[in-house]
Amino acid sequence: MLEVRTQVAIIGAGPAGLLLGHLLSREGIDNVIFEHRSREYVEHRVRAGVIEYGIAELLSDAGVGERMRRDGLVHHGIELRFDRASHRVALSELAGGKSITVYGQQEVVKDLVAARLELGAPLYFEAEVTSLDGLTTDRPSLEVATSEGSMRVTSDFVAGCDGTFGVANRAIPENLVRRYERTYPFSWLGIIAQAPPATEELIYCRHENGFALYSMRSPEISRLYLGVRPEETLDEWPDERIWEELSLRLATDAVPEIGRGPILERGISALRSIVLEPMRYGRLFLAGDSAHIVPPTGAKGMNLALADVRALSRAFLARYQRGDEALLDVYSDTCLERVWRAEEFSTFMTQMLHPSYTDEFENGVQMARLRQVVTSEAAATVLARNYVNLCSV
Ligand code: FAD
Ligand code: DHB
Repeated sequence: MLEVRTQVAIIGAGPAGLLLGHLLSREGIDNVIFEHRSREYVEHRVRAGVIEYGIAELLSDAGVGERMRRDGLVHHGIELRFDRASHRVALSELAGGKSITVYGQQEVVKDLVAARLELGAPLYFEAEVTSLDGLTTDRPSLEVATSEGSMRVTSDFVAGCDGTFGVANRAIPENLVRRYERTYPFSWLGIIAQAPPATEELIYCRHENGFALYSMRSPEISRLYLGVRPEETLDEWPDERIWEELSLRLATDAVPEIGRGPILERGISALRSIVLEPMRYGRLFLAGDSAHIVPPTGAKGMNLALADVRALSRAFLARYQRGDEALLDVYSDTCLERVWRAEEFSTFMTQMLHPSYTDEFENGVQMARLRQVVTSEAAATVLARNYVNLCSV
């Protein structure tokens, strides 16, 4: 068995694990990243697309924002659509001039992998962490399975950046962690299509048939989502039906049709909220989806993951440079305050935009909320500030 020794062992090469590794390596803190999947897989996994203002700055400051600044699409507003009409929320005007950047998560991952390889820092793909031990001692250890055999890794600290279904959060004894969970009676069917975006800005749409979202990746590539029932499968949604339903939901009196094109990718994901408290157990620190999940309507998941590791990297720096563990001690509380704000905002957006199939009272309240946001500057300002820069505080 191969023995590895490092200061910080990082599980998972999603946005959280990769950025943490990068921030630590830049400061000379030794770390190793273990990723269960292949490089090809993580670099092509289509997921998030919206990067908040302060998180885009974090990536730029870390030296990994060059391609994002060049190819990312800077947006100053979003559209809210309902009752066949469109209403613009002027994000930048309402949020102190700040904007969002639309740039695919897999591109962030590619940029971070490239930066890691350039630094020559260790990153193992197809290396599955199978167990964690000694988390409450000062020498925690991991077992890692690879196609070439097993590794035993000892470290000072472990960062669990391995998503909801990883091993890190399960290593915390059940009686020492509180789990908050909510499932929503919807899923999102997401597609990538070779079709020029319908408008320059994202469109969040409420229609009596369900939610729809029009996003994009480039002037040629659109990213669209349909709210569907949780039990629905991709088999029930041939291309023609997807486009018919998107067209129907997104139609306005001014623009009754959307452009169509070949569908390049598709997937269905359930909407849920999860929060684990605390995000620490001994020398194990959770970051990103391993500690919390938000429904995607607020576009916060990746932003939260990156904000967590910004806090965690600062805490490790204080520990290694000054022997000061105060930031490690408050890491969980610091993150959870932001996490709950993101849960609140994501729940608000979800409940405002997904019509209930069973509760007409709920639908009346939803419409009132939407009308308030598009007629009250105070209400729009709260939405805009949360959408543009919630994770930066
Ligand atoms: P992940 O990206 O899940 O990375 C975890 C990694 O750990 C994975 O690569 C996994 O293979 C690896 N791993 C797991 N177990 C092990 C193990 N035992 N050993 C080694 N490695 C392991 N967020 C936004 O901010 N904005 C959006 O617009 C947005 N839209 C979304 C749309 C969709 C359809 C979906 C599904 C999500 C969206 N999100 C969005 C959420 C966002 O994608 C996630 O929050 C983000 O991926 C979290 O990053 P992470 O690094 O914590 O976890
Ligand atoms: C995208 C995803 C989201 O969850 C969202 O709220 C907005 C945009 C996207 O993939 O572009």
